[in-house]
Amino acid sequence: MINTPAEIAQLQARRRGLSDRLPGLPIALWSGQAAARNFPANRYPFRASSHFLYFGGLSLERAVLLMVDGRSILFWDEPTVADALWHGPEPSRVVLAAEMGLDADYPLAELATVLGDRRADLATVAVQSPAARSHQAAILGRSLPEPSQATGADGDLVAAIVAVRSTQDASALSELRRSAAIAVAAHQAGLRATPSVTTEAEVRAAIEAEMIACDAHPAYNSIVTIRGEVLHNERYDNEINPGDLLLVDAGAEVSSGWASDITRTWPVSGEFSATQRAVYEVVLAAQRAAIAAVRPGVEYRSIHQTGSLVLIEGLVDLGILQGKPAELVDRDAHTLFFPHGIGHLLGLDVHDMEDLGDRAGYAPGRSRSDRFGWCFLRLDRPLEAGMVVTIEPGFYQVPGLLNNRDQRDRYGDCVNWERLEEFDDVRGIRIEDDVLVTAEGSEVLTAELPTDPDDICALMV
Ligand code: GLY
Ligand code: MN
Ligand code: MN
Repeated sequence: MINTPAEIAQLQARRRGLSDRLPGLPIALWSGQAAARNFPANRYPFRASSHFLYFGGLSLERAVLLMVDGRSILFWDEPTVADALWHGPEPSRVVLAAEMGLDADYPLAELATVLGDRRADLATVAVQSPAARSHQAAILGRSLPEPSQATGADGDLVAAIVAVRSTQDASALSELRRSAAIAVAAHQAGLRATPSVTTEAEVRAAIEAEMIACDAHPAYNSIVTIRGEVLHNERYDNEINPGDLLLVDAGAEVSSGWASDITRTWPVSGEFSATQRAVYEVVLAAQRAAIAAVRPGVEYRSIHQTGSLVLIEGLVDLGILQGKPAELVDRDAHTLFFPHGIGHLLGLDVHDMEDLGDRAGYAPGRSRSDRFGWCFLRLDRPLEAGMVVTIEPGFYQVPGLLNNRDQRDRYGDCVNWERLEEFDDVRGIRIEDDVLVTAEGSEVLTAELPTDPDDICALMV
């Protein structure tokens, strides 16, 4: 990947944004290293840690980016002759450092020497890779807790990273748009493939082939299932038949690392049954109301609340729920059918910065609710212009929830169980878009892929 001069300037601005928040603090970010699949030479694809990628701009393996005294320095070992034999040559370290807009570059072994006695003050974020984490601990001379538990200078670094990465700059937005466009094309390929195939696996293949053809890949394990009530279903072994709804949650990660995250639900036959369409319209109304509420200053929790209320109103209209919608929301009755949160931050990670636990998703001083449903809310802070979030309400008939004795005791009077049986061809529906918070309101980055039920079905030919 080659960074343009504008991208290099943006990387420098990101690093300044971080250093300015932590005056005098030396910061080192490790890129990590690939995990072995079953023996060392057979590795999972490498992808640098998102913090390194965000501030460094290149996915270099076994690299460290040091920011100290106003300078940014790369530590990385150039490939040996044997490395180059198997993996091809790489640009020299000095060329890579220039592409990252850095001030100096050294072999990895010189990190401790260059740091000198600043080593004692160094702040970092623990990476996932165990090998890289051992290197971090050796350089720092102390063990590293999970980033969600970081305190002292490491904790200050986490807070500063969250502040910088929570809103997206021009380079990031350009890549997020590119990722969104690829995910849209991938869903379109899945829609076109559906009438002519017989298994979930074949629809998945059509979706992921489109991503791969764009030199992208899935940003997370795609969900392509007629069992949409299994929220993170990662099996693809069912036949698909007329009468089934297919829930597809698939997003792309582009070569620069930026992600998209789209869910659509469509009928395998190309036509929704009356009951499927009715519930689909309810989920769509909830999604539209939630998106309409997105603007700077609004609490994301209130958007979850708005979506939940509209969902309940629709289910009351359908006769599935009974009672006053506002009271039903207060009793969390929506969680029977919509147990998860309405979305999350999106960026370099599909759940952006979730390696930091809830330190990005939750405003300082806030923590997860202990109420069922609300405890799965991944984002609880006021929205700011430049944030990218997902909006993804759903309706699911999860036997483990609906047949649970406690839930039956609590909500037995809210549900018309006989009426619900008429909707047994609706196992799971989710509709998910990626939404940029703008100064005026919002922009749906994935709007090219329709959500209207007729428009979606029209794409199946
Ligand atoms: N694709 C994961 C999610 O929607 O959160
Ligand atoms: Mn999502
Ligand atoms: Mn998703």
